[in-house]
Amino acid sequence: MGEYLRVKASSAGLENVETVLASAVSLPLVDGIADLVVSNYCLHELRHADKRRALEEARRVLRPGGRLVMGDMMFSLNPAGARDRRVVAGMLGKLARRGLPGLWRLLKNAGRLLSGRGEHPANAAWWEDALRQAGFSGVAIETLAHEGGIAVAEAPSNGGLSSTQDAALSRARAEMRLRVGHESRRASAAGE
Ligand SMILES: C[S@@+](CC[C@H](N)C(=O)[O-])C[C@H]1O[C@@H](n2cnc3c(N)ncnc32)[C@H](O)[C@@H]1O
Repeated sequence: MGEYLRVKASSAGLENVETVLASAVSLPLVDGIADLVVSNYCLHELRHADKRRALEEARRVLRPGGRLVMGDMMFSLNPAGARDRRVVAGMLGKLARRGLPGLWRLLKNAGRLLSGRGEHPANAAWWEDALRQAGFSGVAIETLAHEGGIAVAEAPSNGGLSSTQDAALSRARAEMRLRVGHESRRASAAGE
């Protein structure tokens, strides 16, 4: 991956790209050095405790106001969740349509899942909570038509509200937007 990035950067004429190989749970970077952290389809490879450590690392290396953009699988095997059910049914249907190779893949995946060696996807609600717990603010998650989702979040420039304070602030902002909307609808109905 590092070599691939080096070649791509060089062929694009970028001379100031340095590649460092490290685990997402322990970044060899000083605090507050990064403007942007991007992760694409990596964190589902980590168990949930390590996902949280990776988010804390991302938060640590970001400067105040720096941003995290993350694309990854966003579903769980929870049959109670409508999106989770739809995503899993879609995947099973896709494998079933491939016939025997699909069935073989399904059995392999089930084996890896049962032995704990497989992927560890989490749904959007889990990510939202984990991002807040890791100290991010401005968390926004969009789930896509397939199993994926995109999360954006910001390292707070407010001196670091706790996740509880940040959640309370988000609720207060949402309530205020509702009130303002209600008030402007009332005023326009009254012709004010
Ligand atoms: C599905 S691939 C995605 C690769 C690439 N980001 C892309 O979009 O094509 C998952 C990648 O996560 C990497 N990975 C797994 N555990 C990791 C960890 N703890 N820290 C950093 N990368 C990890 C794997 O080496 C693999 O390259």
